[in-house]
Formats: sequence, structure tokens, C-alpha cells
Amino acid sequence: MERIAIFPGSFDPFTRGHAALVEAALKLFDRMVIGIGHNLSKRGLLSVENRKRLIDDLYAADPRVEACIYTGLTGDFAQAVGACAIVRGVRNTSDFEYERTMEAANRRLYPSLTTVVLFTPADVADISASTVREVLAFGRSAEEFLPAGIDITKYL
Ligand code: PNS
Repeated sequence: MERIAIFPGSFDPFTRGHAALVEAALKLFDRMVIGIGHNLSKRGLLSVENRKRLIDDLYAADPRVEACIYTGLTGDFAQAVGACAIVRGVRNTSDFEYERTMEAANRRLYPSLTTVVLFTPADVADISASTVREVLAFGRSAEEFLPAGIDITKYL
């Protein structure tokens, strides 16, 4: 049976760190559904549609990866796409505490779903979407933080 995992997040924008996690997760799962959580009360840098467009462009040639926008609980989204796992990345101890709590809530609510936490590779563990947003806000290119070939100005 095909093993599907979701990779949920804000992805505002999708970074090199996220891409490294997708690559790692594809060694464990047949398909990855990148879920862009739509938080209606939070206006981001990129619209959710453009976040999706960036990811779609990046993985256009890889049928194992797709991007979806979802609202509501991540566990419900996971079940709706037939996923058996939720993949999340951890860079450091502060990520860890947050992920621990989220995993526990999802375990209570969705006992059949497994959260798989992957360590972000060290060479990209300094990267965060919030740093990208800050760099861009000050007018600098954020190319080093973004997946190779992605021109962020096409999605702003
Ligand atoms: O990239 P982020 O901001 O760390 O992503 C966080 C996200 C969207 C994965 C998380 O906030 C989330 O899952 N939100 C939906 C509500 C939910 O299911 N919360 C966890 C169980 S209560």
C-alpha cells in the first residue's frame, strides 16, 4: 500500500530547510502532501495561493510531491488525504518543545496518526521563514535561504 505523509506548516515562504526535510521524508514515504495551513487571522508575507504556487513550481517535475491549502485541524487534513503520518522538522531545542506539545495533542485527537519528527540537516538548520521575511523586508535578496532556482519576487 502507498504510504502517504503530510508535511504541514505555514511555508511563508517555503525555504531550503523545508526542501531538505521533504527530500529526507521521501526516503520514508511514497508521497508527500505539503499542507499549507490557512490561518485566517494571520496575514503573511505571501498569500496562501502564492505559497502553494511556489511549492507547485518547485516540485512540478516530481509526482511524489503535491501542495494543498487547508483550514482547520492538521489531523483532519491528514485523514482527508489518506496520510498515515505527520512529518515535522526540528532544528533546535525551542522547536523541540513546540513539536512535543503538538505531537501530544495530535496523538490524543488522532491515535492512528504518527508524527515523524526529522532533524533539519545542520547546513540548513539556521534557516527560518521568519528570517527570510526579515531579510526581504530590508530589501536584501534572500536567495541563499530559498530553494535553488526560486525567485521570490514572482510570488510576492
Ligand atoms: O510552520 P508552522 O507555523 O510551524 O506550522 C504550524 C502548523 C500550521 C502546522 C500548526 O499551527 C497547526 O497544525 N495548526 C492547525 C491546528 C492544529 O491542528 N493544531 C495542532 C493540534 S491542537
